[in-house]
Amino acid sequence: MKGTLEDKTIQKNELWGTDWSQVRALWSLDSSVAHVNHGSFGAVPIPVQAEQERLRREIETNPMKSLSRTLARELDEARGVAASFLGAEVQGFAFIPNATTGVNTILASLPDLRGGEVLLTDQTYGAVKLAAERICAARGGRLIVVPVPLPTSGPRELLEVVTSGVTERTRLAIVDHIASPTGLIFPISDLVTQLHELGPMVLVDGAHAPGMVDLHLDRLNADFWTGNFHKWCCAPRGSAGLWVREDHRKNISPLVASWYVNEQYPSSFRWLGTNDYTPFLATPAALKFMEALGWDRIRAHNRSLARLGREMVGFALGTLPTTDWTQDSLFEAMTLVRLPNGVATTDDEARSLQAMMAKELSVEALPLAWNGHGYLRLSAQVYNSPADFERLSRGLPRLLGKG
Ligand SMILES: Cc1ncc(COP(=O)(O)O)c(C=O)c1O
Repeated sequence: MKGTLEDKTIQKNELWGTDWSQVRALWSLDSSVAHVNHGSFGAVPIPVQAEQERLRREIETNPMKSLSRTLARELDEARGVAASFLGAEVQGFAFIPNATTGVNTILASLPDLRGGEVLLTDQTYGAVKLAAERICAARGGRLIVVPVPLPTSGPRELLEVVTSGVTERTRLAIVDHIASPTGLIFPISDLVTQLHELGPMVLVDGAHAPGMVDLHLDRLNADFWTGNFHKWCCAPRGSAGLWVREDHRKNISPLVASWYVNEQYPSSFRWLGTNDYTPFLATPAALKFMEALGWDRIRAHNRSLARLGREMVGFALGTLPTTDWTQDSLFEAMTLVRLPNGVATTDDEARSLQAMMAKELSVEALPLAWNGHGYLRLSAQVYNSPADFERLSRGLPRLLGKG
């Protein structure tokens, strides 16, 4: 790695245009903290919070009218907006509270798995793997976990390793579009095509995809897809989607059987019991808010800032990878920095480093232990500035006793 931290400071000034500082004020995030982990739970802009509060207030003026008479139409309208954002026909799309529910819904619909296999990778989100383990144990299936090299040499290798796990027994492959522990972007369109050629059904876990990358679910043509609006679209928490290809719709029903359970997908998902449906209803406001900032500008900003942050922190720690991880197709708004040897090598150590960074540096970032080595996952969202990563790159070596 050539250059010094000062060189990075020059780069950062070029990146940081004047109007982004006004954008930051649209979030209610504590300004004394560097929030560089948008990926875990998102963050809701103030105008979107206001819209959700407005919706809640309106419901409280007459809960009977709202929940019993107007909700169905309002939800249908919101569903239309959300489906169109994902490039999906509305008949293929249902709102659900989160991607975890989406994955569990599809797994629950699988028939007897005796003699069959469910395939995923070692970068599959932990809770998704647990859900797949549970369904395999209950239905007599075998779970196959393919290891993905870290770092990877690129999309071709990713395609090869995932498809190498397929056998004639594979019933379902669960593939990430953007992996949680690494931020790695999988070549999802080619992956779906190649997996289909080999036989299994494909469930795309797109938890991080809406907002971070362009989507056209009808064209992607996986068997099933789930993803969150409450991450990179900045919708209120509890807003996600489940897309189901037409030929499977008759087999998919909600995990919780309620009034419309005997109707076809997606009608069967329209009332899942008394609940707060405002996260779904406020999702169009979140999409409109982000659209007003401009998706292209948002993505260009987040991509460059995530890369800059990775370089600043990696440079400060002296752990920049030798492989070229900056290849365009591999990362967007989430990147990964390797921690020095011996740091955060277990989940407990990673958790205590997270708390220490919050307490000592006022930085919210995500250290994680991966195959016996520690990493730091960094996110860049429009409310971030290079100063957030600078604080981390100056403070972390000191905190680890290496600066
Ligand atoms: C790849 C992936 N899948 C699924 C999930 C679960 O999302 P949720 O907690 O919204 O259900 C996450 C959460 O970060 C994730 O990163």
